[in-house]
Amino acid sequence: MNTLKIKYTGSTSLIPAAEIIKNGGIVAFPTETVYGLGGNALDPLAAGKIYAAKGRPSDNPLIVHLAKAQDAGKYCYTNDLFYQIADAFMPGPLTVILPKKSNIPDSVTGGLDSVGIRVPSHKIANELIKLSGVPIAAPSANLSGKPSPTEFSHIEHDLDGRADALIDGGNCDFGVESTIIKLNGNEIILLRPGAVTAEMLSLFCDKLTIDKAVTEKFDGVPLAPGMKYRHYAPECPLTILEGSDEAVYEFLSCREKRGVICFDEDLPHILGKYVFSCGPIHDSLKQAQNLFSCLRKFDQIHDIDIIYARMPSKAGIGLAVFNRLIKASGFNIRKL
Ligand code: TXA
Ligand code: MG
Repeated sequence: MNTLKIKYTGSTSLIPAAEIIKNGGIVAFPTETVYGLGGNALDPLAAGKIYAAKGRPSDNPLIVHLAKAQDAGKYCYTNDLFYQIADAFMPGPLTVILPKKSNIPDSVTGGLDSVGIRVPSHKIANELIKLSGVPIAAPSANLSGKPSPTEFSHIEHDLDGRADALIDGGNCDFGVESTIIKLNGNEIILLRPGAVTAEMLSLFCDKLTIDKAVTEKFDGVPLAPGMKYRHYAPECPLTILEGSDEAVYEFLSCREKRGVICFDEDLPHILGKYVFSCGPIHDSLKQAQNLFSCLRKFDQIHDIDIIYARMPSKAGIGLAVFNRLIKASGFNIRKL
């Protein structure tokens, strides 16, 4: 497939990309979270192309992206809590799961009777949806199982020749995918942590429950089907180290052929060629922004056997960093 590449400069027209979506094609585009691979959410054939391009299992549903939260009622059954939350967080990095209406094809929702609704705040994403005139179904624009793309080079690597167009909009703001929630009466169930944090959401409900699959290995059927797959995995195995600075430095000093993901403050204390910081220890947002590009860097390195990552904070957006790391590690934590 010939892939059109569009470098967005601020005045670039997105009409050619919108035409591709209208005509049933698929386009990778930036959002404030990660890059998405989008197609017309009302067209089962476009959904099929997305699954095929990513190599994604067809039971893993796609999120439907809208230009404004007020459009949600066209595609799903909304309620008061949804609009309260939408007022506070949409447009923004949040996806809400709601019962779907019949115009959303089953292939978009992996056969589920619910649909994930998200209103991205990113200028390019928002304009592309408006110009296309249809809701856009978009998973993260990575090959299935790989870290989500946060830079244009990532989508070029994964999707050149597999998508009809790729839009270069620079780096994504948050670097981790949207928070996903489900509403149950006045309870909010957090299915995937992101930049809209548990702390923020808890102000809008009587009860906020963090789904077990967010923090623990889960063998049952998770509420978000995507949570059951090994995700974000670099080619080399990854282990998270939990312990004091001294214990971690001592442990790493005795290991060869290893890569390390750590914090800025650790850099003077950990020797080696493949030691990458994802940000300052107390800056979870920076860590979120850099995590996936850190993980992807290791796929270019062939003389390491294992990657060790320091345990991040679980507060605020830190819970998203922790969640992506434990998934990348296959829930492999080593206590020192
Ligand atoms: O930030 C994001 O959400 C990005 C950008 C492109 O918007 N998209 C994204 O999509 O991360 P994806 O497909 O990589 O992850 C979607 C997750 C999967 O774990 C999927 O199982 C879950 O959302 N999901 C989608 N629809 C669902 C539904 N109806 N019920 C439960 N989980 C759902
Ligand atoms: Mg994904």
